[in-house]
Formats: sequence, structure tokens, C-alpha cells
Amino acid sequence: MCGIFAYLNFGVSRERRYILQVLFNGLRRLEYRGYDSAGISIDDSLPPSATSSSSSSSSTSISSSLLVFRQEGNIESLVKSVYEDVAATELNLEESFSVHAGIAHTRWATHGEPAPRNSHPQTSGAGNDFLVVHNGVITNYEVLKATLVRHGFTFESETDTEVIPKLAKFVFEKANEAEGDQPVTFSQVVLEVMRHLEGAYALIFKSKHYPNELIACKRGSPLLLGVKELNEDASNGSTLHDSQFLSKNGQPKELFLSSDANAIVEHTKKVLVIEDGEVLHIKDGGVSILKFDNAKGRHGAAPSRPSSVQRALSILDMEVEQINKGNYEHYMQKEIHEQPESVTTTMRGRLIRGGSCKAKSVLLGGLKDHLKTIRRSRRIVFVGCGTSYNAALASRPILEELSDVPVTMEVASDLLDRQGPIYREDTAVFVSQSGETADTLNALEYASENGALCVGITNTVGSAIARHTHCGVHINAGAEIGVASTKAYTSQIVVMAMLALAIGGDTISNRARREAIIDGLCDLPNKVREVLKLDAEMKELAKLLIAEQSLLVFGRGYNYATALEGALKVKEVALMHSEGILAGEMKHGPLALVDENLPIVVIATRDACFSKQQSVIQQLHARKGRLIVMCSKGDAASVCPGDSYRVIEVPIVEDCLQPVINIVPLQLLAYHLTVLRGYNVDQPRNLAKSVTTQ
Ligand code: UD1
Ligand code: M6R
Repeated sequence: MCGIFAYLNFGVSRERRYILQVLFNGLRRLEYRGYDSAGISIDDSLPPSATSSSSSSSSTSISSSLLVFRQEGNIESLVKSVYEDVAATELNLEESFSVHAGIAHTRWATHGEPAPRNSHPQTSGAGNDFLVVHNGVITNYEVLKATLVRHGFTFESETDTEVIPKLAKFVFEKANEAEGDQPVTFSQVVLEVMRHLEGAYALIFKSKHYPNELIACKRGSPLLLGVKELNEDASNGSTLHDSQFLSKNGQPKELFLSSDANAIVEHTKKVLVIEDGEVLHIKDGGVSILKFDNAKGRHGAAPSRPSSVQRALSILDMEVEQINKGNYEHYMQKEIHEQPESVTTTMRGRLIRGGSCKAKSVLLGGLKDHLKTIRRSRRIVFVGCGTSYNAALASRPILEELSDVPVTMEVASDLLDRQGPIYREDTAVFVSQSGETADTLNALEYASENGALCVGITNTVGSAIARHTHCGVHINAGAEIGVASTKAYTSQIVVMAMLALAIGGDTISNRARREAIIDGLCDLPNKVREVLKLDAEMKELAKLLIAEQSLLVFGRGYNYATALEGALKVKEVALMHSEGILAGEMKHGPLALVDENLPIVVIATRDACFSKQQSVIQQLHARKGRLIVMCSKGDAASVCPGDSYRVIEVPIVEDCLQPVINIVPLQLLAYHLTVLRGYNVDQPRNLAKSVTTQ
């Protein structure tokens, strides 16, 4: 969804052209999140007389000091329009700035259609006294808007964001009237604005009254500061734990602010994860941090007075290669093919070797102090959305089997809609790749208020879910850029299988089973490598299905989740109707759809449900169903009643790990169908990578 990026160079000369490139590249790194318009603001330096007549396009407003460019559509249309507008104003791209603050934003429309007036930066009005880029939703914007209108402000957008720069201008003018000779500081203005805002947000402010300064603050939505020291001596002398490091004024440096680590890692790995209630003031090359002691919660009461805080930087555990496509055409393709490595990383350091050099047990560092509490829970409740929900569903049977604790499933939004019962004796497990999904986050807040032990399973260190859960496990799958979740799904299942092993005691009766699962985990990367060899076969299958309207996927037991997840992949990227069906429900409705035209994938790999699935295949065959059967290697002849059926033969692994293998051909099928049908693989229509609004 929306993305924020800002770039501030201090004590180092940067041409306007370079600054624009950094801002555009930052926006390109945010593209994968999903957006429908974008905008930037940089400094002008032309005299007012030259700029006043230069507002050449409806999407561009140019004041005497700050330039704002906003455009509907993709980043490249923004880039084109900026260069066109710059050419029209004869703005010098070679002009150098030894200090300059630029801000940028990708917008996912919530309040108001995608249009330049609704894009960010949003402005306080003509003159651009204050500009704001915003992620999140301001829930009380209507009240604020009514007040500002009463004070003479006029609004040009339908956004909730526009109240923020206007409120800043209002506060600034009032404060200066009152203070007389003592001008109000930028952070004082923003702190006062924050006091009036309700909802979730990450914000960056830029103002013509405070040239070369930026303010960043957040409550609920993520925001990171990246720091690149340019003076070698200075950076050698500073350690990450030196909390004075940030406040050192005067040292040449480049600072980056973003809602997403992907946009920062190519510049620096030194970051500060900004916390809720914190206000960062960047001025004269230094960063000061103010924090409200009782930062107003997402729905809470007014905060107290802010105090100054010192924070240490941390290092991003991420490589630039992770966010590049490498030799692949699309991120989804790359992420499908890197699953042997991603599941390996997920397990690294977590499988403990026994005497015979074989892995014998599991150590999940983030959970070891909480296992007793989890074992004593009345039930375990899995909560998630989309693919993360499906991964939890795939893992439920093994968790029930090994832990003996009842496991229930909750789609996050439905739990909230029903205000379903959550008790102090529950362990609620929140599964989320991004760790920022609004529904899951709100469900976490709800479960936490109800006293449950809250466990997170997320891919994003420092994400809201990772921070707000009592404990958890990072899946360590590496950055996932494609909107369609692939490698995170398989890593989530691997983590939850390890979770089941960690919770379940090592008893004599279950030892053989545990060892088989652990051996299966150790060999899983090889098996994933093997199943990826079906790539060409899946492309051929996609060619056969290219013009279909619909595809059904039948699964049960461990692979009911595979059916749901395979169908989700096909519908979200290939834009083909697809439904995952619990095979046990076949005769209760779906059988009516079966004819010789509708393609149906039936998952019938070896597990406790195998014979039931064989019977399903027979019944579909009797009705002339057009079947594509997924079976275990070597089973094709015995499983398929007719020669005409397509067969997908996959390697056999321990039953609870089979979903990791079985989803891979369906991911490949969805990928090839999408390419062949000519759709956007990595940014499917209408979808965002992180769904940060409800
Ligand atoms: C941790 C380190 C890892 C190091 C390893 C061995 C981190 C992020 N991980 O991995 O770099 O190699 O020790 O020393 O520093 N947590 C939550 N909620 C979540 C996810 C995690 O509260 O949703 C918490 C965990 O309870 C834990 C911490 O975050 O306290 C790190 O979790 P995780 O990375 O899974 O721990 P380790 O695998 O032990
Ligand atoms: O980041 P999360 O795992 O919390 O995201 C949940 C869903 O939005 C996500 O899995 C979505 O269903 C994917 N686009 C599926 O590929």
C-alpha cells in the first residue's frame, strides 16, 4: 500500500539531477507494495518572479521555494512529467546543493480517487508552507477539517491527509502570533499537530519555513531512518551503540527515511527503527528524537509532554541482491525458484544435532522461555489473512498431533467482526509475512487486551507484529517483493512444523515420528529443488489452460490448505477464477459443477487421506471430469483412471511437510498462466503487498 521515502544530504554536494534520481529510485523500491499515484517535493532556487508564472501543468504547483510534483499512474509517468515540468521552468538540473531535503510518496487510494490532487505530498495550500507525505489513516480528519474550514482554510483533495499540513500551518501561525520574537521550532509545530491526530500514521513533514529540515513521526505505521556517514574518520570513530551518533551535528552524511527497508538497504544498512510516539527532527546534519511518554495508542487518549530520548542504530539483516531480480524476469519467479535456499535459511541454527550427527531436536530461540506456557494453554488460535492463514491451516494437523492442544483457526478480519472469544488461557499465534497487515495487527491488539499469550510468526524483523507480540519466530525467508506470496508460505509452514516439534514433548511414543519429521526437514531443500524441475511441465500445462474461465483445486487433510493456496495464487496473479475445495465437501455442492470442460486439479499425494482422494478421483472420472492429478512420484498409473488425464508427479516427503512440496507446481502454474495471459506478475491488479488498512 502507500510508501514513504525521503532523502536528505548534508555537507556533501549533490546536484538536483542526482537528488531526483535518488528519490525516483526510492519510489521504484516501494512500487511492489501496490500504488496508483505518486509524488515528490524538492527545493526550488529560482527567484520568485521566475517561478510565479511557471505552473505549467495541472499536476504541478510551484511556490517560491518548494516544488511539488504529483502524478496519477506509475512512477515512470511521474518521472516523465517531472522532467517535462522542469524543462518548462528552465530549472537547472546541474545546480548543486550542499544540503537539501527531498520527500517522496507512492499512494494507494483510500480517501478519494487516484488523481494528482489526492496524491502526496499534500500541502497546506498555495505557497506550500507545509508539505506532508503520509501512510495510514487519520480517523478524526472530518472533525479537524471542519475546524480548519471554520478558520478559513479551503481543501482541494478528498484525502484524510490534507488536514495535516493545514493543521501545521494553523499551529505555526498561531504560535508565531503568540510567541512574538521567539519563533516556534519545526518539532514544536509537529508535536502540537500530533496531539490532535487520531488513527495510524507514519508522516514526514517538509516546510519552507524550515529549509533543509525534515520531521518524521509515527504511530502504528512503520518508518525507518537510514544513516550513511560520508566522512570516513567520523564513521570509524562511531559505534552502533553510540547513542550520540545520531545527534552529531556537522558531519557530512546522507539520511534516508522510508516505510520500507527495501528502499534504504542499497544506500546503507545502518538504521533506526522509529518507534510509536517518536518525533525525529533532522536539522544541521543531526537527528534529535523526542518521544511522548504515553504515546497515544491507535485509538487512545491524548499524550503527555514529550521528552528527549537517545537511541542506538541497528544493522539491517538484508542484502541488496535480495531486492534485485537477478537473472529472473519477475520477482515472483525468482522467489519461487529460491525456495530451496529460503527454507534452508529458515531452518538455519534451529535444528539441533544429536549424537549420531543427525538433527534430533528443534530450538526456536524466540520461544524457548514461553514453551511451558504454550503447552499449558487451553487452546492455540492461529490468526492470519490470505496466504499466511493458509500456511497456518496447513500446519494445524501436525500441531494438534504433537502438542495435544486444540488448535482453532481465525481469519483476522472475521475474528474482529465477530469479536470472537479469546481468553487469558489461550495462545494466539499471529502469522504474517509483512508483520504489518492491519487486520492481523488489530486482531493482535484485541487478543492482547483479552490477556492471551501473543506469539508472532513473521518475516519482517522490527515489524509491528514482531514488536507487539510477547514472543515469536522470524521465518527468515528474505525479502519477498512479489505481491503473490510464495517463499514466505513455504517458510511459514517450515517454522510451524518446527513450532509443533518444539511444543510437543519428546516422548518414547512419538520419537520415531519426531525423528522422521526432523529428517524430512533436513532433506526438504533437496526435495524442493527436485519439484522445481517441473517448471517446463507447468508451463506446458499453463498453455493448455490459458483461455479457461475457471479452475478448481480439490484437496483434503494436510493439502486442503494447498488447494486454497494454489487457487489463491491463480486468482490473484493470473486473474482467473479459481477455488480451493475441501474434497470431503465435494458431494455437498461442488460436484454439480463437474463436466468435461471445467479443469480440476485433484491433490492425491500419499498420506492418511490418500485412499479417500482415490475415491474422489473415481467419482469425478465417472462424471467425465477434466482432471489434472497431483500424485506422489511413481503413483501416476495407479492413481489415474484414464490415460487422458494430466499428471503432476511430485517427490514424497513426510506428510506434514508435503504441503511445502505440493504448492510449488501450483505456484509455477499460476506464474506461467499470468505471463501467458499477459498480466502483471509482480503487481497484480488492485492488490497491494502489505494491506495496511482495514
Ligand atoms: C536470534 C537473532 C538471530 C541470531 C540468533 C542466534 C534477531 C532478529 N534474531 O534468532 O540474528 O542469529 O538469535 O543468537 O535478532 N519475536 C517476537 N515476535 C515475532 C517474531 C520474533 O516477539 O513475531 C521475538 C522473539 O521472541 C525473539 C526475537 O524476536 O525474542 C528474535 O526472534 P528470532 O529471530 O526468531 O530468534 P532467533 O531464531 O533466536
Ligand atoms: O503480510 P501478510 O502475510 O500478513 O499478508 C497477508 C495477505 O495479505 C497476503 O498473504 C496475501 O493474501 C498475498 N497477496 C497472497 O499471495
